[in-house]
Amino acid sequence: MIPTIRWKGRCVYMIDQRKLPHKVQWFVCKTYQDVIKGISHMVIRGAPAIGVAAAMGLALGAESIKTRSYHAFKEAFLAIAEEMLKARPTAVNLKWAVDKMTRRVEEMSTSPVKDIQQALKTESEKILKDDIEINRLIGKNGLKLIPKGASILTHCNAGALATGGYGTALGVIRAAHEAGKKITILADETRPWLQGLRLTSFELMREGIPVYVIADNAAGFFMKGKRVDLVVTGADRIAANGDVANKIGTYQVAVLAKENKIPFYVAAPLSTIDRTIKTGEGIPVEQRDPKEISFIGKKEIGPHGVNALNPAFDITPAKYITAIITEHGVIQKPYGKAIKRLFSLA
Ligand code: MRU
Repeated sequence: MIPTIRWKGRCVYMIDQRKLPHKVQWFVCKTYQDVIKGISHMVIRGAPAIGVAAAMGLALGAESIKTRSYHAFKEAFLAIAEEMLKARPTAVNLKWAVDKMTRRVEEMSTSPVKDIQQALKTESEKILKDDIEINRLIGKNGLKLIPKGASILTHCNAGALATGGYGTALGVIRAAHEAGKKITILADETRPWLQGLRLTSFELMREGIPVYVIADNAAGFFMKGKRVDLVVTGADRIAANGDVANKIGTYQVAVLAKENKIPFYVAAPLSTIDRTIKTGEGIPVEQRDPKEISFIGKKEIGPHGVNALNPAFDITPAKYITAIITEHGVIQKPYGKAIKRLFSLA
């Protein structure tokens, strides 16, 4: 499986996902500012991968703080954490990782600064390792929902590239393939960044999982024609009532699935659930550069200067979601209660 992100010496290496599938090129981060750039410019994307990158970025930032005083160190660290939080607003895994790293700093208030710096690097490595384990559990838990021979529609890329490895939605798909279920995938191309066309198909083809890319506006055609047995997507943030923020276009897929009586599943780790936000209405939706709509890659397609709107995510109300697959089990409606129970078990 292609590695998404890793430490190499004192630098953080990320696969430059803007270049995939035609070039496999590393983006080297020497500073925390490089990591922020990597996240906001889509070098690395996908909620759990953004979380891992933020943790590694904070460890890089911590390393650059030149002081022996814990208080001065903490103050500088918190300022870097504030900057990191602004890299991308929707994926709550970023905040989750920043909070986890900040807690580590607070726990070590009596330790020498150089020990804290080392501990933060170790913590970021653990976040990466744990994420891969969590995704394998999500895959295992989702297995029972996948019938033999199923045709599965997915949106965007919730694969190894969107996480530390293995993937969430693609984790379920990988587990089903590994279990010999003989599945076939329909991958929405996912405009404007084409994560489905460029990344999901790339990951699945490398592992011999049958995949067809479809235009985003073809999902209804295939659902009505009984060519989709279930949908599984990832999530960027799940509110306390089960509303899900995910890549723009997810909402319309969910509504179409309901209309066509097709189960719609969301696969996500607990770190994607934000219990501080009651409903999807409270989730911040990232608005990106309109040029991402009027250009394809570097080529301008629309009339020069055309207006465009580019929300990067939408909110799928919980009522459209058949189940949420997590590392601690599969939950169903009512999600408010189920999420509370889930966290009490975790
Ligand atoms: O803009 P992106 O590519 O970061 O959006 C990614 C998604 O919407 C994914 O479905 C989500 O982050 C889950 S990744 C396991």
